[in-house]
Amino acid sequence: MKIDFTLNDLPVTIDVPDDITLLTLLRDYLKLTGVKKGCETGECGACSVILDGEVVNSCMLLAAQVEGCKVTTIEGIHGPDGGMNDMQKAFLEFGAVQCGYCTPGMIIAAEALLAHNPNPAREEIRTGMAGNLCRCTGYKQIVDAVEATANRRLAERQAGIEARGAGRENKDG
Ligand code: FES
Ligand code: FES
Repeated sequence: MKIDFTLNDLPVTIDVPDDITLLTLLRDYLKLTGVKKGCETGECGACSVILDGEVVNSCMLLAAQVEGCKVTTIEGIHGPDGGMNDMQKAFLEFGAVQCGYCTPGMIIAAEALLAHNPNPAREEIRTGMAGNLCRCTGYKQIVDAVEATANRRLAERQAGIEARGAGRENKDG
């Protein structure tokens, strides 16, 4: 069957068997191996992607279900220069990456969380990322990294608003 969808902001049209999962489509057909294969039963979150703004386990969906949808994988998350974005850098800074197997899914879940709630409490971060399991870090470092990224983005947004306000005042005299 033919599927048309948007993947990491680019249009994709691909012919695939109609019984494959979204995880198989992304990893085996499109070679996006940042999407990790873990439990394949919807338990671990290693295969997380953002589908039309919501985090989903790609192992639990059929590829056919993304027809006409917008999918973002870890390969679609980057900074303005194409390198790591602030969240990815914070994961390194706070020691939230050890073996790294859960990390793509964690970052996908964290980005979706902040898109919905730019200023989450620590408990909300824990709850928002409860579908993503990590066998290495003990989670504290992950919550620290997400919390720091949220705080930094809010501070940057506030600084931008103040700078624009000051610019307008100067222009108005
Ligand atoms: S591989 Fe999909 S939830 Fe574990
Ligand atoms: S860093 Fe190893 S599973 Fe999370």
